[in-house]
Amino acid sequence: MTQPIKELTLLQPDDWHIHLRDDAALATTVPHAATSFNRVICMPNLVPPVKNADDARAYRERIMQQLATSDISAARKATFDPRMTLYMTDHTSVQDIEIAAKSGIVQAVKLYPAGATTNSADGVTDILACADVFAAMEKYNLPLLLHGEVTHAHVDIFDREKRFLDEVLGKIIASFPTLKIVLEHITTSDAADFVLAQGNRIGATITPQHMMLNRNDMLLGGIKPHMYCLPILKRATHQQALLAVATSGSPKFFLGTDSAPHATDKKEAACGCAGCYSSATALPLYATAFDSVGKLDKLEGFTSRFGAEFYGLPVNTNTVTLINTPMQIPTHYPYFNGSTLTPLMAGETLPWSIKD
Ligand code: NCD
Ligand code: ZN
Repeated sequence: MTQPIKELTLLQPDDWHIHLRDDAALATTVPHAATSFNRVICMPNLVPPVKNADDARAYRERIMQQLATSDISAARKATFDPRMTLYMTDHTSVQDIEIAAKSGIVQAVKLYPAGATTNSADGVTDILACADVFAAMEKYNLPLLLHGEVTHAHVDIFDREKRFLDEVLGKIIASFPTLKIVLEHITTSDAADFVLAQGNRIGATITPQHMMLNRNDMLLGGIKPHMYCLPILKRATHQQALLAVATSGSPKFFLGTDSAPHATDKKEAACGCAGCYSSATALPLYATAFDSVGKLDKLEGFTSRFGAEFYGLPVNTNTVTLINTPMQIPTHYPYFNGSTLTPLMAGETLPWSIKD
């Protein structure tokens, strides 16, 4: 009989989709991210958004200043590498793309359909009208990161991702045959199948919550606001399909936590914010999900290889060790201005932890 795995050493993971926020929030989010990840793709949905290379450079400097004063090891500080994204608006120009591509710090362009999610009011109102900008991204090999949901008020919230595949994504892929595209935080078997059916320039990120939870977890026996994110958790069959593709060894699927902090009082409210905070415990969460289907041998590809390969970046050479010792997810972390941050699955015990 094979012995259960006690320790698992992985090439250091990268997080290809994270929200670090800005200013005082960085004191919490930066050390959490830097403890587990080398490269992090920083989402640009600040207020106001990161719209051009100058904004991106200034934001990266604020992150690096925070890193310098954070209480984490020198080794983790040395390898942490925030990669920036531009927030695409109706006014993004070909010149913005050209300058960003040549800046050396902008890794991708993020497209939020207007009104899709937190801080997306400046998002694109007519995606199919962005042809010149997509063509410029194609020319300069700058990937397009998509929040893949349609936003028309009459479309049911559970159908928004599928409608985006059917009505928008297929057209973009057909019109820009060499544009690299990441369908971010996929939530349905439809999205998984769609991505599998495309060539290798189309990839997808998957969050811990969409692999581990479904809408019953969020809604049965009382509403759990800390499980509410967008795109919203779907039914169990979708959760199972996402876990299956993530653990399949397909290089099209890679780690993107979508860790998206909102203070506890903004989540536990009459109109609660969308976003789950998972950054500090993401590696134990993903390990627990992979272990639940006996696929720990597939974890490293998902966490540490496939994203880098998709972006054409070198795979990390340093490592992190996970250990099969239970850990309790903190009930909350201190956040700025005396507020707190409640993480995903707060207070629950996971079988895996990060070895010191
Ligand atoms: C994100 C946020 O809070 O910035 N929220 C979320 O529910 N995922 C935005 C996003 O990625 O959609
Ligand atoms: Zn996000």
